[in-house]
Amino acid sequence: MTAFARNQWYVAAYAREVGRELLGRTVLDEPILLYRTEDGQAVALSDRCVHRRFPLSQAPSRLDGDRVMCGYHGFTYGTDGRCVFVPGQQRVPRTARLAAYPVVEQDAFVWVWIGDRDPGATVPPRAPWLNSSAYTVVSGMEPIDCDYGLLVDNLMDLSHETYLHGGYIGTPEVAETPITTEVDDGAGIVHVSRHMDDAACPPFYAESTGIEGRITRWQDIEYHAPCLYLLHSRVAPAGAAAPAADGSDPEAFHVEVVYAITPSTQKTTYDFWAVARDFALDDQKVTDYLHANNHTVVMQDVDALNVLQKSLDTEKPGYQELSINIDTGGLAARRILARLAQEGETRAAAPAAGAAR
Ligand code: FES
Ligand SMILES: [Fe+2]
Repeated sequence: MTAFARNQWYVAAYAREVGRELLGRTVLDEPILLYRTEDGQAVALSDRCVHRRFPLSQAPSRLDGDRVMCGYHGFTYGTDGRCVFVPGQQRVPRTARLAAYPVVEQDAFVWVWIGDRDPGATVPPRAPWLNSSAYTVVSGMEPIDCDYGLLVDNLMDLSHETYLHGGYIGTPEVAETPITTEVDDGAGIVHVSRHMDDAACPPFYAESTGIEGRITRWQDIEYHAPCLYLLHSRVAPAGAAAPAADGSDPEAFHVEVVYAITPSTQKTTYDFWAVARDFALDDQKVTDYLHANNHTVVMQDVDALNVLQKSLDTEKPGYQELSINIDTGGLAARRILARLAQEGETRAAAPAAGAAR
């Protein structure tokens, strides 16, 4: 099982999901209540009433202005988690307080910090395409019944596109073309690149770009452990000019594929997926096509990982895997995740200087 790195930022929801309705999510085994104040601030509190643990995200719990009132006996909490009302007595017990989690709203995501260390100046990594007028975005979220490490493995090795996603995004060249992997251990970032100079154009790109014939296809992965995965995808008609020194690349189509991989429990994961494109921006047909097609591709992964987790659950302890070249990026990611999880624990055990909570 992949250990949790607690003192890190995780995506709890899309910004559009957080509003004046109460939303419950479980992140790293912590039940979290999300809502927005009347002036639009996203709030993340523990989703368990301190009285008898009723979930505050569940009806008849409700918002009263910026406060949340438990639907069972009426305990009422402010945005800082402090209880401001209990029924039948004036005195509110001092310990009546919900954990309040630091929140950052950025690039269409609501990020939360679950750990007991103060995030300080730590900020979540960026995915600016999701909120940029130069891109059109399709997105969604699928829960998976698997250890989040299985989704990290899946995304770090795209050679599976040829087999699992054949006829959608996979062509023979993906599995045939070797990768290059670079690891920045200090920053916790893994880069995996695969550049195909002359490849078949899969339907995903043929339909959306209108390219007929073979393509140059670049896949440049940038994984910011633990939660954010970016795939910079570039396709252009085979033989098209490479990007210019100033970064301009007029002959190519660019797709930024973004995943937020959020561990929910040890064996459940939120798979936030988004596809941002810099072409056919106002073409609704292309938008609809990419949404439907990418959802199908995501579900192929979801189904496979559900099956894989079930199968791993029946393995004997100490079972073996066998890794090959295509796994280099995934193995690097596992090493970084293990280190982040261990660091979080060691520092949490030490007296936390400046800890907020
Ligand atoms: S469980 Fe919330 S008020 Fe009793
Ligand atoms: Fe996949």
